Amino acid sequence: MTTKFTLPPLPYAYDALGPYMSAETLEFHHDKHHQAYVTNGEKLLEGSGLEILELEDIVKESFGKNAGLFNNAGQHYNHVHFWNWMKPNGGGKSLPGKLAAKIDEDLGGFDKFRGDFIQAGTTQFGSGWAWLSLNHKTGKLEVTKTANGESPLVHGGKPLLGVDVWEHSYYIDYRNARPKYLEAWFDNLVNWEHVGKLFEEATA
Ligand SMILES: [Fe+2]
Repeated sequence: MTTKFTLPPLPYAYDALGPYMSAETLEFHHDKHHQAYVTNGEKLLEGSGLEILELEDIVKESFGKNAGLFNNAGQHYNHVHFWNWMKPNGGGKSLPGKLAAKIDEDLGGFDKFRGDFIQAGTTQFGSGWAWLSLNHKTGKLEVTKTANGESPLVHGGKPLLGVDVWEHSYYIDYRNARPKYLEAWFDNLVNWEHVGKLFEEATA
């Protein structure tokens, strides 16, 4: 289950994602940025009335009602997953079978999905995320983008894959070249086994 407000260790070494994401980026991103969301979120949870909830429900319940808590809880949720959406020697086109079939059915195939996902991340104006999610209402996969700490969780969906397009995620390695970061990330770092597992859980 999701942790509430503790910083999980990275599931790999800081230098494991090079050359696509450097140890310096991961040190700042995980140890400083994610840690700040944890520290601030924990403080803002106190007295909010949502203390007994799990992280996912804190995110959903604070959305539109408690901006400070939502921003930090949302970003904590997003980052807990972001570390697991990557792995050394990830990417490629070999996806778990059921997920690949669903992408063909709903999103026009892998190449179209890849293009749309990168486009969503490129065109998210300012800080935010690009997503592959399962829409609970329609039962279909969707590619979307959100600002700041929002995610499909608060729009009736289950996030299956998300990429951080805040500058802190790519500026050290790619400077302002966000599209280059997105292509390198998608083609070399995505942990498709993990995405497939989340898809199976969401459709079980
Ligand atoms: Fe981030």
